[in-house]
Amino acid sequence: MAMSTIEELFEHELKDMYGAETSLLDALEQMAGESSDREIKKAFTQHRKETQGQIKRLEKSLEWFGQKPEAETCPGIEGLIKEKKALMRERPTPQLLEFFNIGAGQKTERYEITAYENLIDMAEKLGMADAVELLEQNLQEEETALNKLKAIASEFDVAEDVEAHEQRTTSSRR
Ligand SMILES: [Fe+2]
Ligand SMILES: [Fe+2]
Repeated sequence: MAMSTIEELFEHELKDMYGAETSLLDALEQMAGESSDREIKKAFTQHRKETQGQIKRLEKSLEWFGQKPEAETCPGIEGLIKEKKALMRERPTPQLLEFFNIGAGQKTERYEITAYENLIDMAEKLGMADAVELLEQNLQEEETALNKLKAIASEFDVAEDVEAHEQRTTSSRR
């Protein structure tokens, strides 16, 4: 049957985010594993923990619809995961991979932020105050994570790679 109500759209979008957050658990674990810097590793590990809580809140929101929590594949997040696979084919240095991950993390947070803003808007229109409250908690965690990654990116030192690159280009000119 064709989708015809905002409730159905809301439900679909909740399941989409449920799928997204579930895929992100693996991605965050992987990025933490690829981090040599303690602060970066901690940021990814901590956000993974928050993500587990976000999944619980989404499950609760779906239950209010009498829905079993089942995930829709989220093509948006899958696309971001594919970008990572494409980068891996370029065989980046560990340092560049780490820097890439910080950027990929920010892209993900921005996607999640907009998705939660939309969900909150729909929940408000539907008068679902409880869902609004839970979704706002998720939104806040994503915003904090984005700001943290932004700060980490601006402090990230790429000096070593620049040196190695210079050495490569001067030796190839000789
Ligand atoms: Fe999330
Ligand atoms: Fe996030």
